[in-house]
Amino acid sequence: MSNLLFSILADLADGQFHSGEAIAKKYNISRVSVWNAIGEAEKIGVDIFSVRGKGYKLTQPITLLDSKKIKQAIGEEASWFHIEVIDVVDSTNTLMMRKAATGYPHAACLAAHIQTAGKGRRGRRWISALGQNLTFSFLWRFKQGAAMLSGLSLVVGIALIRAFQKIGLQQALLKWPNDILVLDNGLYRKLAGILIELQGDMEGQSLAVIGIGINLDISKKQIEKIDQPAIDLHSCLDAAINPNELLAIIIKELAAALSQFESEGFAGMKEEWKNAHAFHDKMVALTKGDGQIIQGRVSDITDDGALLIHTEKGATPYSSGEISIIKNWNNA
Ligand code: BTN
Repeated sequence: MSNLLFSILADLADGQFHSGEAIAKKYNISRVSVWNAIGEAEKIGVDIFSVRGKGYKLTQPITLLDSKKIKQAIGEEASWFHIEVIDVVDSTNTLMMRKAATGYPHAACLAAHIQTAGKGRRGRRWISALGQNLTFSFLWRFKQGAAMLSGLSLVVGIALIRAFQKIGLQQALLKWPNDILVLDNGLYRKLAGILIELQGDMEGQSLAVIGIGINLDISKKQIEKIDQPAIDLHSCLDAAINPNELLAIIIKELAAALSQFESEGFAGMKEEWKNAHAFHDKMVALTKGDGQIIQGRVSDITDDGALLIHTEKGATPYSSGEISIIKNWNNA
């Protein structure tokens, strides 16, 4: 993807019309080259209006990510973090996993404007679009082996809930293990998702690539592509969110929660997690990897992050699977 395209997109970010002639003049290129660049944008899912006599315009104004602005917003602790923004990538997690294996620094954040093959949990796709989502991966290196990291994915959920509270969103909830939901007119809608990939030994040192996707301001067209009820920050807060500032807050909360996890384990954060769990004490159906469905009441969470489901046989811990609430079963 050409640098020219992202320079043009930075001009169009204001949501105003920019004539082909003015863009051509600015970059000292022909109008055909401008037209070709706009064609490249469409190939990566960026919708650009083109009106004869007026020029080109994005469907809505956007704020592009900028590593300097993210660092500025982090403030004093900025030097603790390595921050990189890339324009287009298949998946920030995939790229971060490669970089992590070749010495990429601890506490690094790799954010992308566009992901062409974003990955979700359980082999799903993660749909995102320029300016409508925040998509990034965060690298954390642990002294402990991967065997000690159960509970990690729940800890990342806590970090996101804390970050959302900081920007005034009090109603974000967790769904085990780590979806972020908002209850909207009786329907749980997904605001953000987390995909963690691990590298290293079970016993020796290990690292986690923590991939996070957040819906910022998603269009109707994008909502239609998502295979579950979704919501965005813009409609929850009724205010524009600056993605650079939001990412700065999340990076700080991630570092704080991960450090707390290293010293206290998940046990120290369990009560906070339970308080934010949308389905605590509710009747749920858990679908296991083999398709088996367990129905019961969520009674607790274990110190290593497994969900305790109470059935007539007693309480059983589950460390993987997908849960959904069972409607009309005393689930107020
Ligand atoms: C899910 O809820 O299924 C997890 C979604 C995780 C999406 C993020 S976007 C940034 C990072 N890169 C990816 O390919 N996926 C994660």
